[in-house]
Amino acid sequence: MNDRKVAVVTGASRGIGRAIAIDLAVAGYDIVGISRTLESTSEKPGLLELKSDIEAKNSVFLPLEYDISDIINREIIVSKVIDEFGRIDLLVNNAGIAPEKRSDILETTPESFDKILAVNLRGTFFLTQSVSKNMLENINLIEGYHPKIIFITSISADVSSTSRTEYCISKSGLSMAAKVFADRLAESGINAYEIRPGLIETDMTAPVKKKYDAKIEEGLIPQNRWGQPEDIARVVVSIANGHFDYATGMIFEISGGMNIRQL
Ligand SMILES: NC(=O)c1ccc[n+]([C@@H]2O[C@H](COP(=O)([O-])OP(=O)(O)OC[C@H]3O[C@@H](n4cnc5c(N)ncnc54)[C@H](OP(=O)(O)O)[C@@H]3O)[C@@H](O)[C@H]2O)c1
Repeated sequence: MNDRKVAVVTGASRGIGRAIAIDLAVAGYDIVGISRTLESTSEKPGLLELKSDIEAKNSVFLPLEYDISDIINREIIVSKVIDEFGRIDLLVNNAGIAPEKRSDILETTPESFDKILAVNLRGTFFLTQSVSKNMLENINLIEGYHPKIIFITSISADVSSTSRTEYCISKSGLSMAAKVFADRLAESGINAYEIRPGLIETDMTAPVKKKYDAKIEEGLIPQNRWGQPEDIARVVVSIANGHFDYATGMIFEISGGMNIRQL
């Protein structure tokens, strides 16, 4: 049995997940990173690019190349982590996708709807179910074991975007999943939290960067800047460090003040 804590981060190869993985390594976690890409391509970086960054923090890194929407993979993922480390202290459900093409709610296609929900909601839900069962099995077996689960949803869990309906629905559904997991697991000492990022500068938002640059200029975000992946990673580390241990089910909106209603 590994004495060090182990964090599983989905979507760790780039963007928000990558920053979370690195900051958790700094906080003393060994890291399991999941994405569909192991080796970098000309289009996107793979998990192996993260290896040296994690190892530089004196943490062990296990990259797992899996598509979380293929839910048959969930048991394999848990087995591989347990075979390697014997424990999962933190699951960060970060992997997510946006619609390939934005289209009005009246034109949303069944294909795009199914694809987005398969990753953001269904895949994430069933991976969490499998990890939760493993956490429950270990709860009385590992000394000082206080496992946690974090769901990265979005302000879109609550804010309407008529051109990204399927994304909003997926994040709204995931928000409820976070709440129900928090409720179900609380009595066993397993906490669950939701983080809702606002506009974060990553590959996901690159196609709409110019549009939102202009809106930020016009005052869209009270703190007047794009969020960075590290803004989210800092909150994950704070939760992991136990600063919110009496607050299971809590929702953190990290959006530079977009939560403030203005008159
Ligand atoms: N950026 C924002 O403004 C923003 C705002 C609110 C919420 N969020 C949420 O934050 C999370 C991270 O977003 P991001 O901006 O960092 O996105 P990103 O830069 O596009 O990165 C997404 C990550 O998820 C992985 N991934 C995607 N589909 C996957 C699948 N089916 N199975 C396994 N891994 C998968 C990607 O790797 P591969 O492509 O190699 O699989 C990549 O590592 C998402 O859930 C997103 O919805 C982002």
